[in-house]
Amino acid sequence: MNITFAYKTQAVDNTKTECLVVFLPKDTNKDAGYLDQLPKSFHRLLKKFLKLGGFSGKAGQIELAFTNSSHIPRILLAGLGEPAEVDAEKLRRVAGQIGKKIVDMKIANIAVLPPAYLQKNLASQTATLIAEGIGLGAYTFDQYKTKEKNDDSGQEPSSITVTLYDPKKVTEKKALDLGKVKAETANYARTLGNTPSNDMTPTVLAQHAEALAKKHNLICNVLEESDMEALGMHMLLGVSRGSREPAKLIIMEYKHKKAKDTLAIVGKGVTFDSGGISLKPSTSMEEMKFDMCGAAAVMATMDAIGVLRPKLNIITVIPTSENLPGGTAQRPGDIVTSYSGKKVEIINTDAEGRLILGDALAYVAKKFNPDAIIDLATLTGACVVALGKYASGAITNDDVLCEKVVEAGKSSGEPVWPLPNFPEYGEAIKGKYSDLKNVGGRDAGTITAGLFLKNFVGDIPWVHLDIAGTAWAVKEIGHIPNSGATGVGVRLLTDLIHNWKA
Ligand code: BES
Ligand code: MG
Ligand code: ZN
Repeated sequence: MNITFAYKTQAVDNTKTECLVVFLPKDTNKDAGYLDQLPKSFHRLLKKFLKLGGFSGKAGQIELAFTNSSHIPRILLAGLGEPAEVDAEKLRRVAGQIGKKIVDMKIANIAVLPPAYLQKNLASQTATLIAEGIGLGAYTFDQYKTKEKNDDSGQEPSSITVTLYDPKKVTEKKALDLGKVKAETANYARTLGNTPSNDMTPTVLAQHAEALAKKHNLICNVLEESDMEALGMHMLLGVSRGSREPAKLIIMEYKHKKAKDTLAIVGKGVTFDSGGISLKPSTSMEEMKFDMCGAAAVMATMDAIGVLRPKLNIITVIPTSENLPGGTAQRPGDIVTSYSGKKVEIINTDAEGRLILGDALAYVAKKFNPDAIIDLATLTGACVVALGKYASGAITNDDVLCEKVVEAGKSSGEPVWPLPNFPEYGEAIKGKYSDLKNVGGRDAGTITAGLFLKNFVGDIPWVHLDIAGTAWAVKEIGHIPNSGATGVGVRLLTDLIHNWKA
């Protein structure tokens, strides 16, 4: 759903809107003065409504009240719980529920009153969190559903206008704009992820990069398989061999005149992971269209960067390929030479992410010598076992950089949990006939995969984020849909970049 956001410092009183949204805390019904946020003409009606019971203001409770005003016919009451306990993610999630609700209601405009009673540290972010939550919550992916002509559930609007009325200047327009960018770019990543693999090939991803470069005036280079051949990227080429779709290595560059640091971001772009010759079981294999969600996050972050124009140089690299078991596919036991020169035995062709990333990491390290590298990848099923669907796993060679990433995870509401990197774990991937092997056994699968990557970054500070559990949803929470890509990583990276200090 396309959303337009607006910010006004006037009172909502004489406005015409299809629905007025107000955030109410717990015990609003005990007449603690919270109704004062609303136009006086509604106080009596709402007191009566609250007296009926059913709305206590607990966090996440949403109720619709109808008025007899033709200007403002509906009021949506959104519960925030105990005011002292409201944190950023709580507000974001409630705003997310509002976003979902307005899509269900099929209305074209709402007016929102930002709560003025929150903790000081939240006040300035209020508009960011509301816009971000509503924008994410209103996300739909329905391009592949044929519209019924005689649908009697009402006409869907082509876009929704969300206007914040903030006469007390609780927050500001700039904050609203940031929330809008975060939601729009995360939703872009969701759509890249949700698009089925027949329509989201490495070639299509490269086209997206070229379009973004044009939109924001970025440098974009796409290396073809012949270029990779010349460079000796046989880990990436090996993965691609079983598919008819040509692999690509997408490189985008954003430069700022006053930048001191260069940050490199790398995202796994396996547009479909069948496992290759080490074929996956068919149950849930359709989910492997999401194996490019790291790439989607990186692409969408570049879109946010293009708008926000941070004082930092940023290089993004997306190695992208299909992993299919065609007649020319690579075999278990094959030994390939990586771009770095290290030779790797393929034990399991399903451990393909680390192969394409290894070549991309070595390339960005050598060509750009960045100050820091972050990579995002749906790398291991083991990460879903270890951390479930709520936190991304981290492996690093630099605790200071990792701390920054963890902080960005906290501020963005996309939690990150560092895993240990003791050198003993690295023993598991030492090769028998070669330098390395691509699998280190069942134990600590997320860690050994991360340590495999560590071999390709040299001594550049680096953090690897395993987003296997967080990249797509299976349960609805606040602004997260009940299924499909979450856009994880975009808001985290945007915060990391926004708060970067050289
Ligand atoms: N894309 C998968 C990882 C994955 C699995 C992500 C499930 C999300 C959900 C990756 O390429 C893979 O297949 N990894 C293997 C590695 C194994 C062969 C060492 C895995 O996790 O099973
Ligand atoms: Mg795999
Ligand atoms: Zn994979």
